[in-house]
Amino acid sequence: MVEGTINGSLLATPAVLGASGDLAKKKTLPALFSLFRLSLLPKNSRIIGYARTKMDDKEFHGKFADNLKDGKDGEKEEFLKICNYVPGAYDQDDAFQNLNKEIEKKEKEIGSKEPQRLFYMALPPNVFTVVAAGLKKNCYAEKGHNRIVIEKPFGKDLESCQEMMGELKKLWKEEETFRIDHYLGKEMVKNILLMRFANPFVEAGLNNQLVDNVQITFKEPFGTEGRGGYFDEFGIIRDIQQNHLTQVLSLLTMERPATFSAENIRDEKVKVLKNVPAIKEEDVLIGQYSAANGKPGYKDDDTVPKDSNCPTFAALALWVNTPRWQGVPFILKAGKALDEGKVEIRIQYRDQGKGLFEEIPRNELVLRIQPEESIYAKISNKKPGLESSLVPVELDFKYNARMTDYRSPEAYETLILDALKGEHSSFVREDELNESWRVYTPLLHAIDAGKIKNEKYEYGSRGPQSLNHFIGKYGYDRR
Ligand code: NDP
Ligand code: BG6
Repeated sequence: MVEGTINGSLLATPAVLGASGDLAKKKTLPALFSLFRLSLLPKNSRIIGYARTKMDDKEFHGKFADNLKDGKDGEKEEFLKICNYVPGAYDQDDAFQNLNKEIEKKEKEIGSKEPQRLFYMALPPNVFTVVAAGLKKNCYAEKGHNRIVIEKPFGKDLESCQEMMGELKKLWKEEETFRIDHYLGKEMVKNILLMRFANPFVEAGLNNQLVDNVQITFKEPFGTEGRGGYFDEFGIIRDIQQNHLTQVLSLLTMERPATFSAENIRDEKVKVLKNVPAIKEEDVLIGQYSAANGKPGYKDDDTVPKDSNCPTFAALALWVNTPRWQGVPFILKAGKALDEGKVEIRIQYRDQGKGLFEEIPRNELVLRIQPEESIYAKISNKKPGLESSLVPVELDFKYNARMTDYRSPEAYETLILDALKGEHSSFVREDELNESWRVYTPLLHAIDAGKIKNEKYEYGSRGPQSLNHFIGKYGYDRR
């Protein structure tokens, strides 16, 4: 790509639908600003915010300007100049026609002959379909490119996802649709395939001959304060495991793709997911946090029903029945209001050296996704000295110590740039979604029906008391 161009064209008109909202202000517009100041978004682009709230450009800028970081002198002001706001309804043709007129006006200003239209839906799911229909009918450019970006939640189970995707499919082609899972834009997640297939010793160590168990963990140190009502409809498994952690799982377990093309990668991800059976009820531990350490419990939120069985923590064991992974448990853990914030993949290897050594700790390979990306391996090494004994040590590679010339972009920067370029590999294909929902739906229905009960855990703790026992059942050895 030539600097400052997208698909060789100097023109882009992203429109952010739901521009008055939280996602637009915290993620979408700041990511567009980053691309702008890095000259990855052409300087002559035009950005249009659209939502129902009546406001002028200045009020619109006031919503997100404080979130525009790292701009050099004048860059922020330059960026705000290209951001305009158009108020309008989500279900009226004339409102969308008005938006279309604005887009055409901007395209004329920048001399666009082949429009690069990107519609970013920073909207709640109840309006996805109606907005997608309004845009298709009224704002679709005949020439050039039209792309639509949508955010989770993609339904609540297999059936509702298929229903939503079915509706969208009638309007927008698969190659025009970009389903975001923002974990796919994270630097370490993007590293998984490269690291695996560029390093023979890493790839050779990923199989059931050597690996005993794998944990993929998401921990947040804060609760659902302020979002309780929304969260209660979904719960942690729909919020984190079904999408973010399953994406990580498929990148870690898929076979080598023929090329790094979007379709080759996603074909392999789907193939491996097809080998994951639906999660069994006995392979699950769920929890809900209670008040502790001066922090409120989940149910202290007025928007949460007092009898809610919604999990804010879950540990699940999944099985990948491919020849490479058969028999290795993958424990996917996620929780809110825990003792720390951390996302990582921890691969624990089988016991070694029986007969030669006394007890020695197992090898582990850890890929830290956040905070502070790092990769480290736990190995056993001779303790320096006159005796011949072992000591556990770490081979440690921290990005902030060794990659100081580089910057890890925000996930949304990477993803919006890819969407502008029409690059699909970090977006979720419809069949991936179907396979993932197939794995989770029976379990989610059982939890919704109250068949599986939550164990309480204290705000700020590691999770439910029986977590160690649960992980231990699948072979994890904490030595
Ligand atoms: P908001 O609740 O802030 O909604 C965005 C905008 O949509 C609002 O400003 C409002 O604009 C309009 N809106 C809100 N509720 C309704 C409604 N019931 N009917 C019609 N319009 C409505 O959502 P977020 O910005 O937080 O999230 C947008 C999408 O992104 C969601 O799908 C969410 O799940 C997803 N997401 C959000 C993340 C975040 O950090 N916020 C992270 C990951 C995903 P107006 O009234 O002006 O039209
Ligand atoms: C979102 C979830 O998808 O991811 C939130 O809805 C969660 O509940 C967030 O807090 C975590 O994202 P990140 O990038 O902060 O790890």
